[in-house]
Amino acid sequence: MLKRKIGVGLNGSDANTYGETSAKERNVLVSSVLTVTLVIVWLLVGSATVAVAASAPGNDPGASTFEAHCATCHAPDGSGNTAVGKSMKIPDLHSAEVQKLSDAQLADVIANGKGLMPGFKSSLSKDEIDALVKHVHQLAEKKAMSQ
Ligand code: HEC
Repeated sequence: MLKRKIGVGLNGSDANTYGETSAKERNVLVSSVLTVTLVIVWLLVGSATVAVAASAPGNDPGASTFEAHCATCHAPDGSGNTAVGKSMKIPDLHSAEVQKLSDAQLADVIANGKGLMPGFKSSLSKDEIDALVKHVHQLAEKKAMSQ
């Protein structure tokens, strides 16, 4: 009778000790999973903020598309002041000849190309092309403001 009681008691405390240990281990596991999750959330939020910030300047979403697809030839400021621009005799996008073009004409040049300029209708969406048309006009506004 007594022996059995002790046995039960020992078994019981053994189980408790194991229980406590694995609970601690679980806590460590849970907190490291939480930490990893927090880091991932932080990274996602961080990159989303950067993306928003990149498209924010001057409320001109065409600016980043222009940087990525057009600046190699036209220069980031649209002046055409690049080695490629000079060799291709690329017009300054601020010039009256370019600025007098309608939105539809500009969208047509960007989509289908002109002379040595390739068309972008297969690599850019209609929205991106529309944003670029706005950007080309904003280039001239910026120049007018700085004069
Ligand atoms: C491979 C170099 C190159 C790239 C890349 C390029 N262009 Fe051009 N672009 C040219 C050349 C060359 C001309 C002059 C074409 C002509 O008049 O024969 C030109 C002309 C233009 C014109 C003036 C059109 C006119 O009728 O006078 C606009 C506007 C223009 N590009 C916008 C863009 C935009 C926006 C992008 C990016 C999506 C872009 N270009 C990418 C080479 C390029």
